[in-house]
Amino acid sequence: MINQQHIELIKGTIPVLRENGVALTSYFYKRMLGNHPELRNVFNLDHQSTGRQSRAQAATLLAYAENIENPDALVKAFERIAKKHVSLDIQPEQYSIVGENLLHSISEVLNVPMESELIQAWKEAYVQLADILIKTEKDKYDALTAQHGGWAGWREFEIENIQASEGASRLTLKASDQQAILPATSGQYISIKIQVPGQDVEQPQQFSFSTDQNGEAYSVEVKAEANPTIFSVANILLDHYKVGDKVLVSAPL
Ligand code: HEM
Repeated sequence: MINQQHIELIKGTIPVLRENGVALTSYFYKRMLGNHPELRNVFNLDHQSTGRQSRAQAATLLAYAENIENPDALVKAFERIAKKHVSLDIQPEQYSIVGENLLHSISEVLNVPMESELIQAWKEAYVQLADILIKTEKDKYDALTAQHGGWAGWREFEIENIQASEGASRLTLKASDQQAILPATSGQYISIKIQVPGQDVEQPQQFSFSTDQNGEAYSVEVKAEANPTIFSVANILLDHYKVGDKVLVSAPL
């Protein structure tokens, strides 16, 4: 548990960190992806470049710190984040990488040494938050593998059919192992992960189901992005993928 003195220390720095949120998060991602280039396969580099994701993680840590005496206020957010993480096969050991880089970034923005009491306090807050997410995610991985046709992490699927229309295509995906797959309801989503052409990197993206899925194949609509980058999964699928090609898919959530 975090003691009262640490809670006060943390709370005192939230406004400064909020004000410098952009600096905090851009420093954080640059540092983390520089030290751990393998995470370029995990984070959506498209979102990185637009800065959307850069804000999400640090913003959640700040929101958590603000509610540190009452973390239940954030249960809904934890549920949403854990879902997204499980869809991306995020693992417990990756939390220490994110934590280390986030704490260094806080130390940098606040201009206080890593060894200070203040960073120690933030570390306690981060670990507490990470423990909540890791546990919520473990429950979800366990629930997925316990179901008939369920799985955790990535599973190979083959594109069985492509129904093309203007700027969009409907892809039908079948499990390469021909075994059962989880049924799903409209509104649930899967992540699809593919190799970026000409780059030594894989990229994931989420695709929602617009109708219930019967458990034999998944059908997703892939729409071209208006301002794609080389990392835009939808555009790569539309431009480079054909029937018989393989993609990686995470279980519906
Ligand atoms: C306490 C630590 C963490 C917090 C507070 C956190 C928070 C978040 C939030 C708020 C989102 C956006 C959710 C949404 O789209 O609705 C997110 C997405 C994501 N998180 Fe985390 N996260 C944490 C740890 C991690 C770790 C350890 C990893 C793996 C290295 C990770 C990887 C991702 C990825 C890849 C996404 C999707 C972003 C994208 O595709 O651009 N997160 N996280």
